[in-house]
Amino acid sequence: MRIRLFIFAFFLFVSSENIELLDNVLRSMRKGLDFFRLELKNLNLDSVIGTRIVEGQLHQALISHRKIPNRIRLEISNLIEKAALISNLSIPYIQLNQPEYYNTLQGSIQPGIWELNEDLQRTYQVTDHFISPREQMKESQSDECVANVLGTNDNPKRKCIINKFCLDLMTIDGFSKYSLSHQLFFWQLTKKAGCLKDNSLKHIKELNKRICSNMLVEAEYFSKQSSPRYHDLFMEQIALCGMEGFREDFCKEEWTLKIINWQYDDGCWGLTENSKRIKREEKVLKNGCLAHRTAVALSSQTQLLRHLLEKSDN
Ligand SMILES: *[C@@H]1O[C@H](CO)[C@@H](O)[C@H](O)[C@H]1NC(C)=O
Repeated sequence: MRIRLFIFAFFLFVSSENIELLDNVLRSMRKGLDFFRLELKNLNLDSVIGTRIVEGQLHQALISHRKIPNRIRLEISNLIEKAALISNLSIPYIQLNQPEYYNTLQGSIQPGIWELNEDLQRTYQVTDHFISPREQMKESQSDECVANVLGTNDNPKRKCIINKFCLDLMTIDGFSKYSLSHQLFFWQLTKKAGCLKDNSLKHIKELNKRICSNMLVEAEYFSKQSSPRYHDLFMEQIALCGMEGFREDFCKEEWTLKIINWQYDDGCWGLTENSKRIKREEKVLKNGCLAHRTAVALSSQTQLLRHLLEKSDN
């Protein structure tokens, strides 16, 4: 009887065609993390932002869904464990290899900082978003603003500082591409660090909604491009806006399949373009694998997975 009940519960959960996709995402994430595990000494800080997001977001998934079948719960726990191990073991190498960058951005890889759990919400229709060919924000500016909020390694106690320059930079309308995602990244960390209260919380939630509404316009556009030059940004958009609660808009089945499809046999996501400008935080690993791209792919998959679990709940 207990077996029959269990099987029945399992079928209720998996009756949708979700299960195959869910299994594919889980398998893809396992392969991705196994790749990182083999490259421990070569990872960069951005890789660990990715593994911390995997830990935090999958943990939130387990907390939010009580009815996940045991097999899937176990798989997710294994992924969390794997991601935590990679984060823990690679950080000493990052301190050694990227001391300055680590000093500035260590707050973004502290345990627990990516345990975001926003209520599900929808974007609104945007008709006038212009995708600028140029980035409006320098990565160093964004890093500096994040460091002021999270504290640096030198001065971990001085936190939650948002000067006029950063406030303007992070709230200005009309940014696109990485500049736009840096704005959202900044506010998500600022909120999680406990630097926002009452009115500002409401204000920032509204701002983030505008950012994700604009980002959806971009993601739709990038998803239709045959060139792979936007893969990295596209996956970053799914990861960040997914965490903001916009999974219904950003976690489309078609996009999920694309991302799985882009994965190399090695388990990584990598170089696809011939002439490219490598982002400063990007690092080429073996066989053309890319550290940042693999990290954003894994981060996006945490949201695709959460979305599939949410669909199964209904
Ligand atoms: C990672 O490090 C944290 C904090 O030091 C520790 O609590 C956790 O058990 C470690 N996890 C793994 C998988 O090594």
